[in-house]
Amino acid sequence: MNAASIQSAQPRQIAALERLLPPEIVAMRDADLPQVVALEAAAQVFPWREKNFTDSLRAGHPAWVLRRGTACLGFSILMQVIDEAHLLNLAVAPHAQGQGLGARLLRHAMREAARAGMDNMYLEVRASNARALQIYQAFGFRQIGVRKAYYPAAEGREDALIFCAALEGNT
Ligand SMILES: CC(C)(COP(=O)(O)OP(=O)(O)OC[C@H]1O[C@@H](n2cnc3c(N)ncnc32)[C@H](O)[C@@H]1OP(=O)(O)O)[C@@H](O)C(=O)NCCC(=O)NCCS
Repeated sequence: MNAASIQSAQPRQIAALERLLPPEIVAMRDADLPQVVALEAAAQVFPWREKNFTDSLRAGHPAWVLRRGTACLGFSILMQVIDEAHLLNLAVAPHAQGQGLGARLLRHAMREAARAGMDNMYLEVRASNARALQIYQAFGFRQIGVRKAYYPAAEGREDALIFCAALEGNT
């Protein structure tokens, strides 16, 4: 092995080592945005743009990233309206989905909201997003309404389902 091959192997070795680290959830910062925006673009059909994230951080919305080493694997963003929490966005990188990270982010967001004194969490989800519907229902969210043709879709428009969960004792 020569110096050039060691150099080129390093990022792969670092990535392999990072996969052994436990994931941690930390507050989202401006410096996370390039990774967060890229993750969002990969995970969502109609992704938020960078401005949506910067606006959320500027507004002081509670936001977290789930990292393993230097890799950002997911994020969650809340908005507080008096004693209500609104889950504005939640996503896990496609290659890291199905490993419990979305559940971990959601549980964390619900606990933090409860700790901050919020009573209920609300969210809107595409009617076709079976994966998200399943995770929300597993966490005690119940449908309380529907916004007809709320989201743009690949063909025409799609309903938004409105869900709510009580926070106390739920996570
Ligand atoms: C929705 C999302 C955040 C879930 O994250 P995830 O890390 O894949 O979810 P988890 O591995 O924690 O799984 C949690 C639950 O989701 C459901 N789920 C996960 N993978 C699933 C799949 N392939 N099909 C159906 N349900 C699935 C299951 O109920 C699972 O619970 P279980 O482990 O007891 O079976 C993720 O799929 C995502 O980022 N999707 C794109 C963005 C998005 O739709 N965000 C929500 C907008 S409202």
